Amino acid sequence: MKVLVVGGGGREHALIKKIKESEKVNSVACCPGNGGISYDAECYNVSATDIGGVVNLAKEIKADFVVVAPDDPLVAGMVDALNAEGFKTFGPTANAAIIEGSKVFSKNLMLKYNIPTADYRVFENPKDVIAYLEEKNEFPAVIKADGLALGKGVIIPETLDEAVAGVKEIMEDKIFGESGNHVVVEEFLTGPEVSVLAFTDGKCVKPMVSSMDHKRALDGDKGLNTGGMGTISPNPYYTEEVAKECMEKIFIPTIDAMNKEGRTFKGCLYFGLMITPKGPKVIEYNCRFGDPETQVVLPRLKTDIMDIFEAINNETLSELDIEWYDEACACVIMASGGYPKSYLKGVEITGLTDGQLDGVTVYHAGTAVKDGRLVTSGGRVLGVTALGNTLEDALKKSYSAVDKIKFENAHYRKDIGQKALNIKK
Ligand code: AMP
Ligand code: GLY
Repeated sequence: MKVLVVGGGGREHALIKKIKESEKVNSVACCPGNGGISYDAECYNVSATDIGGVVNLAKEIKADFVVVAPDDPLVAGMVDALNAEGFKTFGPTANAAIIEGSKVFSKNLMLKYNIPTADYRVFENPKDVIAYLEEKNEFPAVIKADGLALGKGVIIPETLDEAVAGVKEIMEDKIFGESGNHVVVEEFLTGPEVSVLAFTDGKCVKPMVSSMDHKRALDGDKGLNTGGMGTISPNPYYTEEVAKECMEKIFIPTIDAMNKEGRTFKGCLYFGLMITPKGPKVIEYNCRFGDPETQVVLPRLKTDIMDIFEAINNETLSELDIEWYDEACACVIMASGGYPKSYLKGVEITGLTDGQLDGVTVYHAGTAVKDGRLVTSGGRVLGVTALGNTLEDALKKSYSAVDKIKFENAHYRKDIGQKALNIKK
């Protein structure tokens, strides 16, 4: 099989390395890919959001299977376009991807089908939002732009002034464009967060091993929200008891709800959960693999990933037994100093090939090859990942490798996994 992967970050690199392990696959292509991915797959300069361009590329290279990884092409209907041309695909169609594409849709779905989530109200007028927050006078408040916003559409103001400024940016200045036409104001929940990615063919749902993201830029969960600064798997807060409750009250009801709405979801459904004192609740749904969750989940997958993708495509997932390795996995993101704001690009990365540790895999996110040298090209640059018999062991290996990799102004968190280690003590 020839497999085409659409996207160009660390998540796509992890997908490609796993797909290459499949006995069914003899070549992998990627668009647009990145510097590191170009060592593992044939990269084509077609943007991940260019639906016509990707369909043409799939035809040109005669792809047998196309995996669409990022949220925006899924929400825009890339899978629909590929299916219409007869391609086998992995990823939801647009009418199902709306579960991530619109927070108003997902909140209304959860309310209608009694799926536990934070209480909320929807607004289309900035004045009404402010009047509501003023009257309620409960902070922190949670305000979310309706549509896609590069993972940055959520603000958690501590004061009314902060809320007013945030609402202005989202709804009047339109910093996320049309995504800010509506906002959802939510009840502020507390508790540890767990990410669960799940395979589903619309008939059954098979959760993958759990993980924990670290979203803030700085140690101790300080600083700005980012796409994710590191991950670990498993997540110790996701006990068997919690998993059982999530299956009964969240995972199966969500799949059923989407079917009842005529929006059958096939692909990877990402449940962003908070384990509150009143039980697990959904913080968000994503219609795709998480980044950097994928980087710690897929290394633990034992079953051939193409068997899973084909079973989902054929709607025979219930017949497949998906197996996982018991080892723990940790991923430390090395970012460009200044991320998620402004940062340098084009600086050389060294130490990647020399003296690397056994069992460490470096997934590339923002890298490019320029004149034969590997350079930075984005905010999140590398995901330094290791498996270990214990979480401690995996973290030790990742951080030893991080120490050897150098680029100007590199920034990484030094406390990935610490919270999980502390609760185990
Ligand atoms: P999201 O982009 O929806 O994952 O939100 C980003 C982060 O904001 C989440 O990972 C949570 O840490 C936080 N968050 C979102 N919704 C809530 C909520 N209702 N209560 C408390 N924190 C929240
Ligand atoms: N790591 C969070 C996300 O992929 O949205």
